[in-house]
Amino acid sequence: MSVTASASTQPPDAPKHATSLVINKLRKEYRAGQPVLHDVSLTIEGRGLTAIIGPSGTGKSTLIRCINRLVEPTSGEILFRGQDIVRLNRPELRAARRHMGMIFQEYNLVERLSVIENVLCGRLGYVPAWRAWLRWFPPSDIERAFQLLEAVGLADFATQRADQLSGGQRQRVGIARALMQEPQLVLADEPTSSLDPKTSVEIMELIASRAAERNIPAIVNMHNVELARRFADRIVGMAKGAIVFDGPPHTLKDSHLLEIYGGEGWLE
Ligand SMILES: Nc1ncnc2c1ncn2[C@@H]1O[C@H](COP(=O)(O)OP(=O)(O)OP(=O)(O)O)[C@@H](O)[C@H]1O
Ligand SMILES: [Mg+2]
Repeated sequence: MSVTASASTQPPDAPKHATSLVINKLRKEYRAGQPVLHDVSLTIEGRGLTAIIGPSGTGKSTLIRCINRLVEPTSGEILFRGQDIVRLNRPELRAARRHMGMIFQEYNLVERLSVIENVLCGRLGYVPAWRAWLRWFPPSDIERAFQLLEAVGLADFATQRADQLSGGQRQRVGIARALMQEPQLVLADEPTSSLDPKTSVEIMELIASRAAERNIPAIVNMHNVELARRFADRIVGMAKGAIVFDGPPHTLKDSHLLEIYGGEGWLE
């Protein structure tokens, strides 16, 4: 075995499955010496929906944003598709991010663009920059964007401006945009927090079914424990920047919820 200690992006212990994700001792300090994530380790297998629950301020968003480096990790490894995401330079990171679809709580749509254009934004990582600037997409992309809008129930809204949509409709566009990337991993940060209970269920159903259909894993931060139980294959409970529960929904007991939510620290 050669031990080239250079900045290799092909760690020898890279996951076997193309879409598994291995997080090793991930630490994040926004302020030096004050870790928000305490050396978190987590392996996400190549499929299934993992819900991350935990009190406000416990580091759920930080964790999910470290995975695509919207937040820069302080130390640790994030192995995905045979690469350590933490070590990638900008062009490599840009390429790696194409494989991660992100769904946001506040949708992050371009309000003045049409629904279909917002979906096509999912291709921006693929088309040359000048084309993207001109909003020029190949017909096959446009066709696929329409198919995805159909799949999320918004076929009739393609040419409407995003700012004319309800929250639930916006999130459907957000999901279609993420799927437009043909992701191998879906990351969602509280995708239903701004939505009514019925719409929340529909949106979770959509995320779970689309990820299952593509046979890729989804990691979803959520506050609603009942929704997590209903849609997740696995629940990860965080408290104060560490994982304190990890298991299938039926093993999550009240005692665990007490441990996850019951402390005083999360009130800060
Ligand atoms: N950009 C930042 N700069 C400094 N501190 C930050 C920053 N972002 C988050 N934090 C801090 O990191 C901690 C974890 O925040 P994070 O947003 O990850 O929590 P969360 O679990 O997602 O909370 P919520 O459920 O409210 O979304 C909090 O104490 C927060 O104040
Ligand atoms: Mg958050």
